[in-house]
Amino acid sequence: MRRMFIAGNWKMHTDRVSAVALAESLADQSTSLGHVDLAICPPFVYLDAVARAIAGSELAVGAQNMYHEDSGAYTGEVSAAMLLDVGCKYVILGHSERRHLLGETDEMVNRKLLAAHRAGLAPIVCVGELLEQREAGQTLEVIRTQFEGSLAGLSDEQMARTVIAYEPVWAIGTGKVATPDQAQEVHADLRKIIAGRYNEQLAEKVVIQYGGSVKPDNAAELLGRPDIDGALVGGAALKAESFLGIVAGAKA
Ligand code: 13P
Repeated sequence: MRRMFIAGNWKMHTDRVSAVALAESLADQSTSLGHVDLAICPPFVYLDAVARAIAGSELAVGAQNMYHEDSGAYTGEVSAAMLLDVGCKYVILGHSERRHLLGETDEMVNRKLLAAHRAGLAPIVCVGELLEQREAGQTLEVIRTQFEGSLAGLSDEQMARTVIAYEPVWAIGTGKVATPDQAQEVHADLRKIIAGRYNEQLAEKVVIQYGGSVKPDNAAELLGRPDIDGALVGGAALKAESFLGIVAGAKA
């Protein structure tokens, strides 16, 4: 049985004071969430302060990116070991903003993914199609290509520990949410792809989040679909009330 997993991607928002305040407020209000795993992913520079602020709570901390090398002369980069050192459990990899604004390729995402696993971080790997790709009927092909490139070379155990976030690019930050049917269809396709590459039992274990304009008023319907195991939340994760409103929509 898969557990629900809701994560907040704070992107390049907040400052030190508001990041800690938001984290503390979430930690205070998110108790006894037996069936839901919760994580918040602040900007790198606030990870340490946020992790300290919520230590001992039910919230986990994740980063929004990392570099694939363990250490060395890589100016401006941050390794998996550094993220673990400041209290991270998760790392988001291959977010569409990194793919489309910063030129991240499937090959780069794959190197990061393998490094995250080697270090013991739990990765959340994002995949998703552009609007023109959906309109051209290419959604499944795009998802399959991203899966095969970004998630290449994982052992069974690593695959089972990898969270996938389906984030249609046209739904991110636009207020245009995928319908529960559209999201469920891609999630079921992803599970079929995993079953084909590995096996059915393993595919049933993989947590697949939906991301893209998830809000308190659409969360329950999305999260009620059989293959939607949680959400990766952007804008609505920046206020405790709306983030917890989404958590409330997670099926028991
Ligand atoms: P929004 O929830 O703001 O659409 O962002 C989704 C997202 O990109 C999460 O990673």
